[in-house]
Amino acid sequence: MPKVLLARRFPDSILKRAETLFDVTLHDSPDPLDQADREAALATYDGILATLGDTFPATAFPAGRTKIIANFGVGYNHINASAATNADVMVTNTPGVLTDATADIAMTLMLMAARRAGEGERMLRAGKWHGWHPTQLMGQDITGQTLGIIGFGRIGQAMARKAHYGFGMRIVFHNRSSKTADFPAEQLSSIEEVCATADVVAVHAPGGNHHLINANAIAAMKPTGILINTARGDVVDEAALIDALEQNRIFAAGLDVYEQEPHVPARLMALENAVLLPHLGSASLPVREAMGNMALDNLDAFFNDRPVLNPVPEMS
Ligand code: DGY
Repeated sequence: MPKVLLARRFPDSILKRAETLFDVTLHDSPDPLDQADREAALATYDGILATLGDTFPATAFPAGRTKIIANFGVGYNHINASAATNADVMVTNTPGVLTDATADIAMTLMLMAARRAGEGERMLRAGKWHGWHPTQLMGQDITGQTLGIIGFGRIGQAMARKAHYGFGMRIVFHNRSSKTADFPAEQLSSIEEVCATADVVAVHAPGGNHHLINANAIAAMKPTGILINTARGDVVDEAALIDALEQNRIFAAGLDVYEQEPHVPARLMALENAVLLPHLGSASLPVREAMGNMALDNLDAFFNDRPVLNPVPEMS
C-alpha cells in the first residue's frame, strides 16, 4: 500500500476511508506542517494529503519520495506548483464542492457588514443595549443595490447569482478574460470602475494576485461602499484597507481571510466597521467531507495509474 501522510485531522469518515486505501500516518495536530515536518514528510511518504497552511515553497523540491500532494482545498497558493511540476510531483485540488459554501459565507459577510450585525451583537452581549431607538446602528441596504465581483470564477458567479435572484442586486464584475453568465451581469473594464460603480465589492480572485485590490482601488469605492474578501488575504492590501476603514472612507468590510493568517492585525480587530470571521468559507461537515473524498479520489487514481481528476491548472 502507498504510504500517505494526512497532514491534519480531517473528518472521521475521511480518515476511515483513507485507512482502507493507503498505509496512513496522521499528523494529529490543528497546526500545519512546519519546515522540519515537511522535509520529513517529503522524504518518507508517497503521497501527502495537505491543506491551507502546509506550505511547499520552491525550496521544498525536489522531494525525496513524495510523488503527489493532494490539496484539501481549491486554493493552492501555499504550494509552488511550478516547482512541483519540475520535480515531477503531481498537485491536485478540490474545485467545485465548496463553491456554494464559500459564496454563502460571502453573502453572510455582506449582510452582516451592511446591517452592522457584528457591532450590534457585541453591544448587546456587553450589556450596552438600552433599547430600540430610531437612529440606532443604522446600516446600508442590500436589496436592489449593485454588487461588484472581482474575479468572476465559480465562487464569484455563485455569489452573484444568489445576490441577483435573492436580493434583486445588479451585478457588475471584473475578470481578466471575457466572461458571460446565465443571469444579467455586466463586465467592466477595470477594477477601479467596479469599485466606483458598486455598493458592495466582493473579492473572488485566487491567491497569488498580490494586492490586486490596492490603495487606488479602495480609494475608488463609494463612501457607503462595503468590501468583502473570502478569497485570500494577500489579494487585498490589508494596510490600505485598514486606513480606509479607520478614516471612514468606506462604510465597512467583511473579511474571512487575512494577509498573514492566523495573525489578524490589532488595528483591524479594533474596528467596529469590520466583520471578521476565522476563514470559515468551506466550514460545513458535508463540504469538508466532499473535499476530503475528492482529495482521496485523486490520490487513489494516482496510485492506481489512472489520470487524476483534479490536477491544478499548471498541470492540466
Ligand atoms: C479553499 O478551498 O481554498 C479554502 O479556502 C480552504 O483552503
